[in-house]
Amino acid sequence: MVRVAVVGVGGIAAEHLKNLEENQEAELVAVCDINKASADKAAQQYNVVAYTDFDRLLDNEEIDALFLCVPPFAHGDMEEKAAARGIHLFVEKPVGLDMETVKRKAKAIRDSGIISGTGYCLRYLDTVAIAREYLQGKTIAMARAHRFGSLVTVPWWKEAAKSGGQLVEQTTHNLDLLIYLAGDVDKVSADMALRVMDDVPGIDIPDVYSVNLRFASGAVGHLDTSFVEQPDGRSSLEVIGRGFRISLDGTSLTITEKDKTITYKSQVNFYKEQDDAFIHAVNTGDASGILVPYEVAVRTLEVSLAAHRSSESGTSVLIPSSREEVAAG
Ligand SMILES: NC(=O)c1ccc[n+]([C@@H]2O[C@H](COP(=O)([O-])OP(=O)(O)OC[C@H]3O[C@@H](n4cnc5c(N)ncnc54)[C@H](O)[C@@H]3O)[C@@H](O)[C@H]2O)c1
Repeated sequence: MVRVAVVGVGGIAAEHLKNLEENQEAELVAVCDINKASADKAAQQYNVVAYTDFDRLLDNEEIDALFLCVPPFAHGDMEEKAAARGIHLFVEKPVGLDMETVKRKAKAIRDSGIISGTGYCLRYLDTVAIAREYLQGKTIAMARAHRFGSLVTVPWWKEAAKSGGQLVEQTTHNLDLLIYLAGDVDKVSADMALRVMDDVPGIDIPDVYSVNLRFASGAVGHLDTSFVEQPDGRSSLEVIGRGFRISLDGTSLTITEKDKTITYKSQVNFYKEQDDAFIHAVNTGDASGILVPYEVAVRTLEVSLAAHRSSESGTSVLIPSSREEVAAG
């Protein structure tokens, strides 16, 4: 049994707690939240110990794995502390807000040899697996995605210093899927603005984002996102090549060729697939089922941060690929 604690028991933690309770390989032992009422409520619901202090949790409990579900600005040095004790880590996306910090954490995770997973749950869709398989060996010409919705109501979301903005915090899922299906991105050029939501008290993040992408393969692409109170949430991705197109609308996949169109509806709960894969990896030591380890999530963050730099500077930003960086030491 993998002994697990969940840190930060807000919105997304509720999903993980449910999945962990149902998982036969996991035993939930504690929760931790700086908000005592939230910690107590979750502890009562799952019959585990509540903590408001992360260090006390580590000192008092024998834990094999931690789920870090705190907001992006609140990670502190939790990853380093867990890694130093050999505690395996599942970290919600985005893994941070700046490259220096997340690279330091990635090194701590790598050096400690712990298993890591991150919350890029869409990679666990069965329809995404079908899309990946279909694209194997094909030349991708272009890939594009969009995500439109409304302001997320958690208090920290509208503040750039706390969330990083919609692209970094939320549309990072769509960017990550573009990278997973079309490959690494090595150049971005972006424009962002706060156009119409500026009457929201305390808001300082753009409400419209338009990002041009160049993939390392030479393919080109685009990502648009906005939260200007769209009446319906929409999220979609397309990859096109000579004579074919794959489209993901929500969780459904459609493959279109000249004489045939096939649509696949997802049959899985991608959150559960993701959490089960992580717990199984910790239980068995075989991490092959984890689709987004910490270092992979770092790259997705890097591309979204580069888009912000591009928008601020008004120029394209080159992002050396991870492989080039490794080669350069
Ligand atoms: N994978 C997904 O689909 C998905 C969906 C929603 C949110 N998320 C991610 O999960 C993270 C949390 O988002 P949320 O919507 O659950 O936020 P939330 O505000 O609902 O919950 C965060 C919780 O963390 C607690 N917290 C803050 N600082 C803490 C600290 N230092 N120690 C312990 N607890 C602390 C807060 O009190 C709160 O209860 C974010 O990174 C977000 O991007 C992922």
